[in-house]
Amino acid sequence: PSGNSTNGKKIFMQRCAQCHSYESGAKHKVGPNLSGVVGRKAGTASGYTFSDANKKKGVTWSDSTLYDYLENPKKYIPGTKMVFAGLKKSQDRADLIAYLQTI
Ligand code: HEM
Repeated sequence: PSGNSTNGKKIFMQRCAQCHSYESGAKHKVGPNLSGVVGRKAGTASGYTFSDANKKKGVTWSDSTLYDYLENPKKYIPGTKMVFAGLKKSQDRADLIAYLQTI
């Protein structure tokens, strides 16, 4: 489905922002800064210590890889240190990804 970035921002602030910063150059939190994540290779945000599992995944984050990852992070990257159950609603994932494209 196509995404609504305004709703995606709301979801991000409620579900993701406690662990992820989003402004360019902002400090990493428990998780990596997600500014510029769409189009970046997994596990390469500079200055952040990723798990081996995340580093070795080898995907580039895109609409489709983020869509699969965010449904069930532990299934997509076994061994990830991201403690997040996932977003089961496909529309929520599409909205969130529309927002991630803007940061
Ligand atoms: C990693 C997105 C929620 C902690 C990641 C990555 C993405 C992501 C795309 C991979 C980054 C990369 O490879 O460059 C999101 C989104 C969330 C969310 C969109 C909300 C829907 C959370 C929450 C936490 C968290 C709530 C903390 C409780 C982490 C950690 C990593 C990570 C620790 C690094 C994983 C590793 O190195 O194994 N997140 N995340 N995330 N996230 Fe999240």
